[in-house]
Amino acid sequence: MEPKSGSAPVPASWRDLPAAQQPAWPDPHRLQQVTSELAGLPPLVFAGECDVLRGRLAAVARGEAFVLQGGDCAETFAGATADAVRAKLQTLLQMAVVLTYGASVPIVKIGRLAGQFAKPRTRPTESRDGTELPVYRGDAINGVEFTEQARTPDPARLLRAYHCSAVTLNLCRAFATGGYADLHQVHAWNQDFVKQSPAGQRYERLAGDIDRALAFMRACGADPEELRAVELYSSHEALVLDYEQALTRPDSSTGLMYDTSAHFVWVGERTRDLNGAHVEFARGISNPVGVKVGPDAKPADVLALIDRLNPARDPGRLTLITRMGASRVRDALPPLISAVIAEGIKVPWVCDPMHGNTFEAPSGHKTRRLHDVLEETAGFFEVHRSLGTHPGGIHIEFTGDNVTECVGGSHEIVADDLYQRYETACDPRLNRSQALDLAFTVAENYRG
Ligand code: PEP
Ligand code: CO
Repeated sequence: MEPKSGSAPVPASWRDLPAAQQPAWPDPHRLQQVTSELAGLPPLVFAGECDVLRGRLAAVARGEAFVLQGGDCAETFAGATADAVRAKLQTLLQMAVVLTYGASVPIVKIGRLAGQFAKPRTRPTESRDGTELPVYRGDAINGVEFTEQARTPDPARLLRAYHCSAVTLNLCRAFATGGYADLHQVHAWNQDFVKQSPAGQRYERLAGDIDRALAFMRACGADPEELRAVELYSSHEALVLDYEQALTRPDSSTGLMYDTSAHFVWVGERTRDLNGAHVEFARGISNPVGVKVGPDAKPADVLALIDRLNPARDPGRLTLITRMGASRVRDALPPLISAVIAEGIKVPWVCDPMHGNTFEAPSGHKTRRLHDVLEETAGFFEVHRSLGTHPGGIHIEFTGDNVTECVGGSHEIVADDLYQRYETACDPRLNRSQALDLAFTVAENYRG
């Protein structure tokens, strides 16, 4: 069935279409019980908040703001603790300060958190020593431990994913507005191991400049409320459609459908089939949505996705998150941008410099070089500069902890260090000082 473009949202119309990457739940009846329970639970976000974000993203499309979207590749239930969430927010806040100060542009802050519990995988199973088990698909579906019990998809995990999202979002809201994110705390975010790193020291100097600017403003009698809190949004990949559907509800004032699991959801590179269930699901909701676009996407694919997901051409509705790889970004990105501008369409273009740059280290660890991440980012800026479009933001995987998952950085990690603290449940993440290195480079690129 070919879904009609721009037709009124039909709840669950995606169910008639092929849905890639869905878990093989062993007990459909149990899934049904869980999704009914989820459907009766409170929304995690409100439609009005999603609309504000959509407005912020429209400003990004117009060239007036820049997106910083980031967090874990895969959140874990065990990671939904105050310390871990605070460390991730510190990273996000530190990066945002570097970007705001260094690039003099408002930063739209979107956490890849409070719902990022499900992963698309290349292969359905994993073999170890002759034993084959279902692959780990994220804590919302199964456990990472290599046992038959852990790897069997369990619908009860969807409920736990909801509750962990609620806890995480509650912490984020408290940190964002309860004083912790106050710009006067700019030094307090730079603690422990980061402070010692070259990037942390560079940050400390910038924080000193900000202190002096704040003291100057206070002396002039200005102490704006805007500096006391931050606006922070949640996002994740809309992958497990039964979960997303259970949290999709009509807004009481407009009747429009919103996926209340997060402010922003995206469709991944592996599930963006135009006639597949994920795109159809995203079409039916009014949240701002994203689509990941890899190096094999054709201009016609991107235009068709825009037609399907943003027929009204609202500039904040659909964000294109490009993930080309450092070696391909300069060739693969320009035709897509040219096709979009030829149609007179404005979108936020966001660079994911992580997913096109993953490789296996000799030790067997899946890793990324910070050098490649920076190189893809530089290519992204160059391409946008040359075409006269706005480089709208970055989408990255980081953690607040001092992990050793990506190689490189001013506090250099080499391939032989990877074993030391390799903790990711999925893709390798930047640690806090690598994330700061990236933020400084992006701020320089943005200034041009
Ligand atoms: C991800 O963001 O973790 C991911 C799987 O990305 P992509 O869809 O771009 O491969
Ligand atoms: Co990832």
